[in-house]
Amino acid sequence: MASSVLVAANRGPLSYALAADGALTARRGGGGLVSGLSAALAKQPDAVWICAALSEADREAVRRGVSEPGVRMLDIDETVYDDAYNGIANSVLWFTHHHLYDIPTAPVFDAEFRRRWDSYVAYNHAFARALAEEAAEGAAVLVQDYHLALVPGALRELRPDLRISHFTHTPWASPDFLDMLPGDVRRQLMRGMLGADVAGFHTRAWADGFLACAQPQGPGSTEVAVFPLGVDGDDLRELAHRPEVEDRLAELRAEVGDRKAIVRVDRTELSKNIVRGLLAYRELLTVHPEWRGRVVHLASAYPSRQDLAVYRAYTEAVAELAERINAEFGTQDWQPVLVSVKDDFARSLAAYRMADVALVNPVRDGMNLVAKEIPVVSDGGCALVLSTGAGAYGELREDALTVNPFDVTETARALHTALSMPVAERAERTGRLAAAATALPPSAWFEAQLTALRGG
Ligand code: G6P
Repeated sequence: MASSVLVAANRGPLSYALAADGALTARRGGGGLVSGLSAALAKQPDAVWICAALSEADREAVRRGVSEPGVRMLDIDETVYDDAYNGIANSVLWFTHHHLYDIPTAPVFDAEFRRRWDSYVAYNHAFARALAEEAAEGAAVLVQDYHLALVPGALRELRPDLRISHFTHTPWASPDFLDMLPGDVRRQLMRGMLGADVAGFHTRAWADGFLACAQPQGPGSTEVAVFPLGVDGDDLRELAHRPEVEDRLAELRAEVGDRKAIVRVDRTELSKNIVRGLLAYRELLTVHPEWRGRVVHLASAYPSRQDLAVYRAYTEAVAELAERINAEFGTQDWQPVLVSVKDDFARSLAAYRMADVALVNPVRDGMNLVAKEIPVVSDGGCALVLSTGAGAYGELREDALTVNPFDVTETARALHTALSMPVAERAERTGRLAAAATALPPSAWFEAQLTALRGG
């Protein structure tokens, strides 16, 4: 059946697991993009979500014709997929948009890069073809993120009747960074994006970055718009009070005792700036020894993109620094940092609830939903230390303690101010932060884009 609303994203709403006896079971996928879109799409009766098969189990499901309603997985050749996802999307485009290059050594655009780029083009075209097959006449197609930057242009050529949007969940690179790409690649990228009727971003800053990069050719008929994704307060509070979260909360409370909790939750992601966050915590304990024994830093880090050596090294660096801080300051009855390097959402929600301080210090981040989630579920109100590089800074800066993410000393001072904040002030700020965080929950965010796309 042809669909009138289609979403395309690299990561789908579910993934498969293959048991030893060969049975396939579907599991819900994770991440901000996935949870936001899943909630929004549940309200669209004939919607279809086109995504890539990410694992051998997913590929096996496609081969066996196993599928869930409203989801179509594409079985893309494994090498092509690896080149496109790891080689280009995560190693080049992600680094470009987040300004993450270690300039003396990267980026390098050579023959190997060209081979990978060809794969990225092929992978984008596979999505465009699948969308062209599934879309009803005049359907609305909502393409997600930097993995699929070429899809709008390619799809428009196949199906000029469709209404096509692209939404970028990351920042958009400043022209200086986009200009590092080989000229023809840069032009293909911009042509792909400008094939969209609407190009959406989380904040004005990223939209302006995109417009600056589009300057040479002009945005043409593409409308550039801002849709700042928020969180669904009721859903989140319901999740945060489930029995498994209460169990985790009891465990964490037993560990933390009556000490204050500084909480952070991230993927083990280079842009999240976890190392400088730990350095700031160390500086806090050095400059303000009065906090020793009276505070615990709860850091949850979900392993992410571990196929890439630089991510593996970063994950190790985080664990090592946490150990060093524990060795340096820890005592018999006080462990200064509790790190959990695993995907454990129940633990994160429990940590959110007991946060006195939330630390969100990315160097650059499309939105950062953790900054919005913690004030919504914290039990007693929390002070938010927030980087100026987070997209959420645009909406939350009034009531957050804002920091330059590179300035460890400023971050340490902000942690001290946050820990010292009077309870009444903290509660008032948390109330306003929660209101701002829930202003555009996922379903309204999605509806707003559909309306813009249909010219409403
Ligand atoms: C960011 C991106 C998403 C991505 C998520 C997790 O939020 O904008 O597109 O799904 O990171 O990364 P992964 O590589 O695991 O999909």
